[in-house]
Amino acid sequence: MTYILGISAFYHDSAACILKDGEIIAAVQEERFTRIKHDSSYPKNSIDFVLNYSNLTLSEVDYIVFFEKPFLKFERLLETYLAFSPRGFTSFAKAMPVWIKDKLFQKKNLFNKLTQHDKKYNSDKNIFFSSHHLSHAASAFYPSPFNEAIVLTADGVGEWATTTVSIGNKEKLEIKKEIHFPHSLGLLYSAFTFYLGFKVNSGEYKLMGLAPYGKPIYEDKIKKLIDIKEDGTFRLDQTFFNYATGLTMTTNKFHKLFGNKPRNPAKEKITQFHMDIASSIQKVTENIMINLSKSLKNEYKINNLCLAGGVALNCVANGKILKEKIFDNIWVQPAAGDAGGSLGAALALWYIELKNKRFINSNDAMKGSYLGVEFSDSEIEKELKIAGAKFEKFNYEKLINSVTENLLEDKIIGWFQGRMEFGPRALGNRSIIGNPKSEKMQKELNLKIKFRESFRPFAPSILKEDLPDWFDINIDSPYMLFVAEIVKEKKIKMSENQKNLFGLDKLNIKRSEIPAVTHVDYSGRIQTVSRNTNERFYDLILNFKKKTGCPMLINTSFNVRGEPIVCTPTDAFNCFMGTEMDYLVIGNYILNKIEQNKNLLSNYKFKFNLD
Ligand SMILES: [Fe+2]
Repeated sequence: MTYILGISAFYHDSAACILKDGEIIAAVQEERFTRIKHDSSYPKNSIDFVLNYSNLTLSEVDYIVFFEKPFLKFERLLETYLAFSPRGFTSFAKAMPVWIKDKLFQKKNLFNKLTQHDKKYNSDKNIFFSSHHLSHAASAFYPSPFNEAIVLTADGVGEWATTTVSIGNKEKLEIKKEIHFPHSLGLLYSAFTFYLGFKVNSGEYKLMGLAPYGKPIYEDKIKKLIDIKEDGTFRLDQTFFNYATGLTMTTNKFHKLFGNKPRNPAKEKITQFHMDIASSIQKVTENIMINLSKSLKNEYKINNLCLAGGVALNCVANGKILKEKIFDNIWVQPAAGDAGGSLGAALALWYIELKNKRFINSNDAMKGSYLGVEFSDSEIEKELKIAGAKFEKFNYEKLINSVTENLLEDKIIGWFQGRMEFGPRALGNRSIIGNPKSEKMQKELNLKIKFRESFRPFAPSILKEDLPDWFDINIDSPYMLFVAEIVKEKKIKMSENQKNLFGLDKLNIKRSEIPAVTHVDYSGRIQTVSRNTNERFYDLILNFKKKTGCPMLINTSFNVRGEPIVCTPTDAFNCFMGTEMDYLVIGNYILNKIEQNKNLLSNYKFKFNLD
């Protein structure tokens, strides 16, 4: 047996995973344990978990691989600051001591930290370093169901690369070309995220959710910032941006071009201007991704596309690439951000360095991305008793029936089952679920449960075989990474008066038979659910369909705004008691809010720093 431990850390989203002879055994993000969103610290808890889960001590692990090359990254920072000097001095002075202390000497640093897991671990000879985008590319290609694929990665920045193109063939994966820093699609999107007053590296979803409320009237102005070639490659005019040199993202020249300063979220409401900006940058991003896809397809004549890197989490753009029918098949790594780099680094070592044979799984090799922590009945009971919870145990059938009854009454339910998901999406194991036919549900869920902006959409989890009856695509989307439009028959047309409503006023109009999961442009971010990857979730949705004819549920992640997705039954109970959720279902146990001790109620609204 060969065991490989993959680690990503010290940038965004620290994570760890274990491969056993190339098979993905466990993978988890550190934020879930420390309860600090996007935690980038050394993933001690994650490493402990993946080792425990695999019944291993660290000294029994054959290889340890880190997701990027710290020295190259240091070189990039150094050269950038020299190139932009003296403008770059502020940020350089701030970044430099951290780099010298922690990042440049990563191998020694990593080795020292690793020794805390196991006293017998005494040599750094088995520590390897992948490169940032090779890790992304490997995480996208190797678990995919494809023998051969074009692999496109795009993010903010790794060492130097911001966008790469690779060709994967069986066990081979080779990077063919790269776009380098400071020209970055991820940083362009992040610059606009910053400009709209959202947090960089987490508010990108908000920008994407806001875009359909606006019109892309600033598309031409954005093209002054970025020179897009016909093949989709691009260069950014650095006079508009500050990310290479300063500690903000955009310059005064940028603000002058669009006519406003960056939005101050504490003082300024979102206006039509912000929605139009969001719509415009989303459209530019989609067009770049579509043009890149088209030119790559022409060049390499391969019918499969794999995607990873933070930009691959833009499920609206993914949906557009799909709709253009450029490729026969597209597969996106569910942990497309840097957490997934741990997995890609381990896979790259197994296939590229150790030259092992690859056996392709016709679904994919991610096991539904259910790769994290799980709890037995006795562990659940123990935690719930300590928390002071009142609960009742049900058998499988009764549990499914009882939850369905509650959904029919528009109750909001915390649904905690099996192994936690790897990646930013909850896929039915750490989810909050509700009735998508309810007209009040979107608002209630946003304001009373998630404590977040009312414009943000919710996703449907739909039985895979029913997808074409409701949405205009027919693919497998198990990881909620494609957006598609609701079919015509299920839409409710807006009246002429309603059509003229602006922005957020459109939110209160029922636009389809499933209003709670219908975004303002009739789109939905889809998760297809299959019985072979998530039996319990599938059976619940099937039962709901039998009663209502509607083969889907609302599925949003089990957390409040700013909180990492819940990991343990205790996290779930605390979140349940801190919000207006009606029921909590953990494994075979159901908790009714009305029966809980009122003294344990709390207000979660201000518990976490807003994202
Ligand atoms: Fe990345």
